[in-house]
Amino acid sequence: MNRPLLNRRLAGLGTTIFAEMSELAVSTGSGNLGQGFPDTDGPHVIAQAAADAIMSGRGNQYPPGAGIPELRTAIAIHQRRFYDQPVDPDTEVLVTAGATEAIAASLLALVEPGDEVIAFEPYYDSYAACIAMAGGVRVPVTLRAPDFRPDLDALKSAITYRTRLILLNSPHNPTGSVFSREELATIAELAIAHDLLVISDEVYEHMVFTGEHIPIASLPGMRERTVTISSAAKTFSFTGWKIGWITATSELVTAVRTVKQFLTFVSGGPFQYAIAEALALPDDYFSSVASGLLGRRDLMVEGLAAAGFEVYRPAGTYFITTDIRPFGEVSALDFCRKLPYQAGVVAIPSVVFYDNTDEGQFHVRFAFCKKEEVLKEALTRLSSLRPG
Ligand SMILES: Cc1ncc(COP(=O)(O)O)c(C=O)c1O
Repeated sequence: MNRPLLNRRLAGLGTTIFAEMSELAVSTGSGNLGQGFPDTDGPHVIAQAAADAIMSGRGNQYPPGAGIPELRTAIAIHQRRFYDQPVDPDTEVLVTAGATEAIAASLLALVEPGDEVIAFEPYYDSYAACIAMAGGVRVPVTLRAPDFRPDLDALKSAITYRTRLILLNSPHNPTGSVFSREELATIAELAIAHDLLVISDEVYEHMVFTGEHIPIASLPGMRERTVTISSAAKTFSFTGWKIGWITATSELVTAVRTVKQFLTFVSGGPFQYAIAEALALPDDYFSSVASGLLGRRDLMVEGLAAAGFEVYRPAGTYFITTDIRPFGEVSALDFCRKLPYQAGVVAIPSVVFYDNTDEGQFHVRFAFCKKEEVLKEALTRLSSLRPG
């Protein structure tokens, strides 16, 4: 066989860092603050709803391609309840295998080979891979420390006649930046002026500590050009269930559904029933998502600063970005590979989320969606590091 085994567009893109760091966590017995999944499950009543659905034979066979009507309705009600956005559950919602499939199907549906896709870096690792799978050209616009605000002049300069869409993520993984209404309005103006589509990944929509989450689709002129993505994984702490969704106009939903049909067709039938119930939980639940994390965010901000890191306080998400230069270190990758041995803690070098690696080489991401005692233990261990 003389052809490469991995498609040229994907070669070199595999972010193996999560696997490497998780293996290191196990082999060294380290506290794993690397991958972003909580160490406690979501509400018991929702887990029970999934079990009941299985036992009563709901969703055990292929559910409808767009998702079960109960979940589509619950998603539409959620968009109206939190953002006053009208969504037709029959034509403007598509249930996906997590936000991951929503991102993949949207990019594969909307990007033609050679189209440019602008994304704010550092970015969630599946963006680069999915843009590549679609044959698109990734055009990064860098969010820079200390504030990680979107550089709107840089965004404007990045737009060319080949730009097809802007891929947004706010609240932003890994920096914790939450884009303001004014910033989103400028992005919207540019999208409208250049007739661009927007894919807006809002999986951390209920994890905002400072500011507010504003779906860009709710801004004037944006509904018809935006695919909004979210997921049950983060809001309800059931990352293993892989229930995600998009909301968009029926034309966009149809385009994305055409791809989804040949990726998974459908998934997670019984979990769809449970998430329909989860989305109807009272307001208290949704406000507790951020308030329940706030104390842990502050614990980490203070603890990491006390251990010697420069810390960038996140306005949202359950990630915190730090700078390792106070330790005399210049490579986040090397630092994270040593950290389990030196301090018994695993973190992620944010450099893997950048094209412009100069910008990310000093940044290390910690996830704080873990039990307080786990975070405290990690901070005690990290306090043994010595700033250089
Ligand atoms: C920004 C972002 N988008 C999408 C996802 C994937 O979500 P899901 O687990 O629903 O596929 C994640 C998970 O970490 C994420 O951080």
